[in-house]
Amino acid sequence: MEYLFHRGEKIPLIGFGTYRLGSSARSDETETLCYGIEEYGMTLIDTAEMYGNGISETILNGIISRYDRRSLFIVDKILPSNAEKGSYTECCKRSLERLGTDCIDLYLLHWKADVVLQDMVCNMEKLVESGMIRHWGVSNFDTHEMKELFACDKGPNCFCDQILYNLDERGAEYDLIPWCIEHDVLTMAYSPLCNSSSSRIAVTGDETVIKIAENEQKTPESLMLSFVIKDHKTVTVFKTSSILHLKNNMKNVFVPFGKDDLLELEKRYPPPTEKRPLNKI
Ligand SMILES: NC(=O)c1ccc[n+]([C@@H]2O[C@H](COP(=O)([O-])OP(=O)(O)OC[C@H]3O[C@@H](n4cnc5c(N)ncnc54)[C@H](OP(=O)(O)O)[C@@H]3O)[C@@H](O)[C@H]2O)c1
Repeated sequence: MEYLFHRGEKIPLIGFGTYRLGSSARSDETETLCYGIEEYGMTLIDTAEMYGNGISETILNGIISRYDRRSLFIVDKILPSNAEKGSYTECCKRSLERLGTDCIDLYLLHWKADVVLQDMVCNMEKLVESGMIRHWGVSNFDTHEMKELFACDKGPNCFCDQILYNLDERGAEYDLIPWCIEHDVLTMAYSPLCNSSSSRIAVTGDETVIKIAENEQKTPESLMLSFVIKDHKTVTVFKTSSILHLKNNMKNVFVPFGKDDLLELEKRYPPPTEKRPLNKI
């Protein structure tokens, strides 16, 4: 594994997502996560109270309990509907119980909706003070929302913005990722493999992607992951329930791109030239 250091934490560049964990017919889902932790050092694990209505957190309980808790970095999220009701302590407590741990490493507001940001910051800070969480952050916040957050008292304590970002969805590069870097906010890319099979296959089946992946001795999927983390300034979480897919996705993932291949890839999937609103899944 390769890491970046952020506000005193050593964060793996690549971790696991757990959206729809438990919904696969495959039996090797838990083994896949354990394999990733043990063989690749994928100790960054992302979940949310929303995923399967707590099922993802409950399945993770059985995985977390196998390891030294301090070796894992667990990200969890509160729903805006619960944040709007001010139920931070109750929700966090329920998530901790389902996870079977006494502290979440990073707790995010899942998306902004109508949440009053100053209230959110105060509640998140209280959770930090109580020891229930170590850091707090947000998800799906575009640049103007980050600026609004930073205008709040203690808003700059925001550790992370988790956003949709992949080779085919590069809008965040225009101003959001640079803003986050400038303000010491970690960007965590979700859906680095484009999430749905049709949009993923559009990329992994692309002639240029296949050719460059071959040149670079990567697979199309590991090329997609390599692209997102290539500057060591963004970390990412992807989901798989298959050890075969996991091995395929990690093939030469940390080997830097050759200059010509990267240029050709950027030509095929160009960076944004103007502001685009941040998309969400
Ligand atoms: N904050 C937010 O609002 C938000 C939104 C979306 C996601 N997330 C987080 O980000 C994580 C990752 O995003 P995601 O799950 O949406 O999408 P993703 O990681 O881009 O793609 C996951 C999908 O790709 C498939 N896949 C993975 N490797 C494959 C391979 N080698 N060949 C074929 N298919 C492959 C997986 O199926 P298999 O299981 O069959 O491999 C799964 O269906 C989520 O799990 C979640 O934790 C956060």
